[in-house]
Amino acid sequence: MTEDTAVNSTENTGLVFIIDDEKTMRDATRQWLELADFAVQDFSSGAAAFDELDRDFPGVLISDIQMPGMTGIEFQKKVRALDPDIPVILITGHGDIALAVQAMRDGAYDFIEKPFEPDHLLDIVHRAREKRTLVLDNRTLRRDLAISEGLDGRLVGRSPGIKRLKREIFDYAPTNASILISGQTGVGKEVVARCLHDLGPNPNGPFIAINCAAVPAQIAESEFFGHTRGAFTGADGPREGKLQAANGGTLFLDELTSTPMEVQGKLLRALEESQVTPLGSNEEIPLSFRLVAAIQEPPESAIQSGLLRKDLFFRIATISLEIPPLNDRREDIPLLFSLFADTAGDVYERPVPSLDAGGRMALMAHDWSGNVRELKNIAERFVLSSLPVEQRLKHLLISKNDTPETDAPGLVEQVRSHERQLLENALAHHRGNIAAVMDELQIPRRTLNEKMNKHGLTRYSGSSG
Ligand SMILES: Nc1ncnc2c1ncn2[C@@H]1O[C@H](COP(=O)(O)OP(=O)(O)OP(=O)(O)O)[C@@H](O)[C@H]1O
Ligand SMILES: [Mg+2]
Repeated sequence: MTEDTAVNSTENTGLVFIIDDEKTMRDATRQWLELADFAVQDFSSGAAAFDELDRDFPGVLISDIQMPGMTGIEFQKKVRALDPDIPVILITGHGDIALAVQAMRDGAYDFIEKPFEPDHLLDIVHRAREKRTLVLDNRTLRRDLAISEGLDGRLVGRSPGIKRLKREIFDYAPTNASILISGQTGVGKEVVARCLHDLGPNPNGPFIAINCAAVPAQIAESEFFGHTRGAFTGADGPREGKLQAANGGTLFLDELTSTPMEVQGKLLRALEESQVTPLGSNEEIPLSFRLVAAIQEPPESAIQSGLLRKDLFFRIATISLEIPPLNDRREDIPLLFSLFADTAGDVYERPVPSLDAGGRMALMAHDWSGNVRELKNIAERFVLSSLPVEQRLKHLLISKNDTPETDAPGLVEQVRSHERQLLENALAHHRGNIAAVMDELQIPRRTLNEKMNKHGLTRYSGSSG
């Protein structure tokens, strides 16, 4: 339908769509706009133009009112439903003025009567274009703000991979579309699923997670679809299936590839029909929830190795989110580590020693096959360890590789650990009263400070053991 839609590729003042069934009108208008540096696409019908629009459309629409099929007024209504802030300028022939005035009340940006002066049109288009830019800028700003307020605290990371993921979550969460998350173990799939729920259309609805790997094949159907009393031996009461329980909220199918293929088939049917029949029942229960599923392997290989039904994959993966492994976003490691260490320090009321350059390097160089979960684990043990600070990481990262260090501590080490114990005891005994500690240990404040720093102790370190 689109005639000559080449967009002016040079820098331009903005994008304009012209919708008019008359080619001569389109050509003339296009010429004027292009002379004024606008990029122009023209369409002979509203339907064709509408196909090219979305809420991020960065331009202005100029539409004739009288057209066969969809009129300009109908077109404007459709556009308004998509995004009321896309400016629509209507071109009126004789007799349409009343219509155009009404359309403006309904949200059209402006109208212009045929025949018109090019300058008059350009003037209106320029203003509309400025308004549109402002609207889009504000939206981007609000979106960035919401991302930083809502997601940054939960999905921590500043690597390009995580930034992209946050943007995708922000864009897709409100749509209610089914989403497939893939990523290695411990990479944050459940975190992402929860963010999708919380930023989704029903944050107050239930979030029902099924760990498919933990559901034995024999009871998978009853777990998913529910059963009536006496549906099978041992079913001594009715049971609501998890699909039904998720109604009005989100169903999270974790480790979907662990579900037997045959149950995957039934699942697919339930999803396609948006209804479920519990085992032993004839009643069809309508389903309405947001579906999020997670798998560890890339979808293609899960399908190839016969763990995931292809048709189920296509049904679920309207949108597919991949979480990059931690080894591919090493710049996030120090940030995540200090977050987890601080949290552990709060929870266990322990001092959080700071990492030196060597520790940081060791973390960055480590092979994180267990991803963020492994990092979290190491950070917690780092805070809880009784080893001298500078040995902790080395020990934790090595002992992971099954090369335990068996060397007994030398004299320096023993003295050091004894000193630490004395400090901790004194701090605990005097409940953080520094003057009393100085007095008991007979050391000046400066020395006490230095020693506390050395051992990563705070005033209240001793209080929780
Ligand atoms: N970007 C992140 N920011 C903060 N915490 C994170 C992040 N990614 C993961 N975590 C934390 O790491 C741990 C593992 O994350 P999660 O359970 O979401 O991983 P998973 O991919 O579902 O793992 P599995 O494949 O084993 O089910 C959790 O404690 C989670 O809170
Ligand atoms: Mg998980």
